[in-house]
Amino acid sequence: MEASSWFLRVLVVVILRGTVFLNNGGVVEASHEVYMEYQSVSAVELNHLHRTGFHFQPKRHWINDPNGPMYYNGIYHFFYQYNPKGAVWGNIVWAHSVSTDLINWKPLPPAIYPSKPFDQYGTWSGSATILPGNKPIILYTGIIDKNNTQVQNYAIPANYSDPYLQKWIKPNNNPLVFPVGVNKTAFRDPTTAWFGKDGHWRILVGGRRKHRGMAHLYRSRDFMKWTKAQHPLHSSAMTGMWECPDFYPVSLDSENGLEVSVIEGNIKHVLKVSLDETRYEYYTIGKYFSKIDKYVPDNTSVDSWAGLRYDYGNFYASKTFFDCGKNRRILWGWANESDNSIEDVKKGWAGIQTIPRKAWLDKSEKQLVQWPVEELETLRRRKVHLSNQKLNLGDHVEIKEITAAQADVEVTFSFPSLDKAEAFDPSWVNMDAQELCKHKGSTVQGGVGPFGLLTLASQHLEEYTPVFFRVFKAKDNHVVLMCSDATSSSLKKKLYKPSFAGFVNVDLAENELSLRSLIDNSVVESFGAGGKTCITSRVYPTLAVFKDAHLYVFNNGTETVTVENLDAWSMNYPLMN
Ligand code: FRU
Repeated sequence: MEASSWFLRVLVVVILRGTVFLNNGGVVEASHEVYMEYQSVSAVELNHLHRTGFHFQPKRHWINDPNGPMYYNGIYHFFYQYNPKGAVWGNIVWAHSVSTDLINWKPLPPAIYPSKPFDQYGTWSGSATILPGNKPIILYTGIIDKNNTQVQNYAIPANYSDPYLQKWIKPNNNPLVFPVGVNKTAFRDPTTAWFGKDGHWRILVGGRRKHRGMAHLYRSRDFMKWTKAQHPLHSSAMTGMWECPDFYPVSLDSENGLEVSVIEGNIKHVLKVSLDETRYEYYTIGKYFSKIDKYVPDNTSVDSWAGLRYDYGNFYASKTFFDCGKNRRILWGWANESDNSIEDVKKGWAGIQTIPRKAWLDKSEKQLVQWPVEELETLRRRKVHLSNQKLNLGDHVEIKEITAAQADVEVTFSFPSLDKAEAFDPSWVNMDAQELCKHKGSTVQGGVGPFGLLTLASQHLEEYTPVFFRVFKAKDNHVVLMCSDATSSSLKKKLYKPSFAGFVNVDLAENELSLRSLIDNSVVESFGAGGKTCITSRVYPTLAVFKDAHLYVFNNGTETVTVENLDAWSMNYPLMN
């Protein structure tokens, strides 16, 4: 697709979203569709066939952004935007769960909820910082009036020696930051604070000026009195409101994570923003000039909606934190539903969180790599193994004897050469991967690929969600496309069934490509080439459910592909709220 049609498409999204807001009582700036009539319709039925088995979910009702994740005194705390009264967005509080392994979760009462003049119309997203003396503090956005005016507040634990930090206090010197000199309805989602050499703390707050998205920078000596820097840390034209910014260092030397106040050394920085207008995120890798508080993306990072994404599927409002227990940076993202709100209300819940992922800088230094936290492997049960399985054009081979509706699959495919790769049409250069995948689906015969997994498949393939690769030969290199295609995922009609896709920047010298998919009833979370490209799809099969779900490996390319190694496990249920 041409760059101009990209722009047109985004413009259409902008216009459509604008209409939605106007239909909902003229709200000028909001991020979620507002269904007043459903906001307080409590869940009736909960044992739904699309409920996930090992992904993070509360028992019932709506969830969105991950908030303030942290590791404190041996316990992981996870907060999230939650509607305690219904399965659509509304009545938002900070729900709270705790864990010792990021996989088994115990629910606690909401930590923060509207109750004071500085947050009575909403307690929106934010982040946690651990202050010197091992004192956690949360910064969050409060909504103070019916006009959606946004301020930044803080909350602290009522009792630091409670291992679960159950009660949080919102002191009366809130709000800490008023929207002065900024757009007051586009001013939210404070980051974790980092500490500069000059003895000042710094935070970012997401915002926009007209159509320029930006990360406002604030500084403070004592964490209480915050002053706005003259210039945002970074901004980008035509990207609209930046929600949920995240800014952190990554090491050039190792996969270990870094604490956010590491601002010097052999490092780069990552700036991620969530674009309200397109509802997807992008990130850049770049350099943070701490003395002048400026962030400059590398020239290998595209700084717009065509940029790199953590995940090319249902994934939004993500947030990372530094896990000092295991020296790693962990990424959480919200995987929203692809079904409509009437169905959400019927099933009594909406939204899940993706499996927490370790994230680090790729050796190329041009992108991140992500991998499910190792603790997930404790849920692996019955295992099947396959090796040296040839797949000719049109073959699909079933992987039997595991619970295909709830599984973890790791597979490596090889091919004898790249000679049969299809030509990459030069006119596709500006095409978005998703368009290409829609055009070249899993059943469209290719040369090297399409090959991969058919997940959540019904016995006669009336339904299936293929996750696959396709290799093209361009003028000077090979182009690898990875797709997670929901087009045939369900016989249900009124569903969003996108052909999610991303390109994979991988060296094919070994003539191999690997794939891992976490399959969990209504979600397929996939990691291509060791986590270089990740795609999460939400799907709603009607036949391929529970015991009637099947898993296959397949090849629809003329080049024979070999399954070098495949390990697949049935996945158990963790304690889940
Ligand atoms: C992102 C977001 C944030 C806001 C929160 C409200 O999904 O719109 O910008 O703080 O959700 O629930």
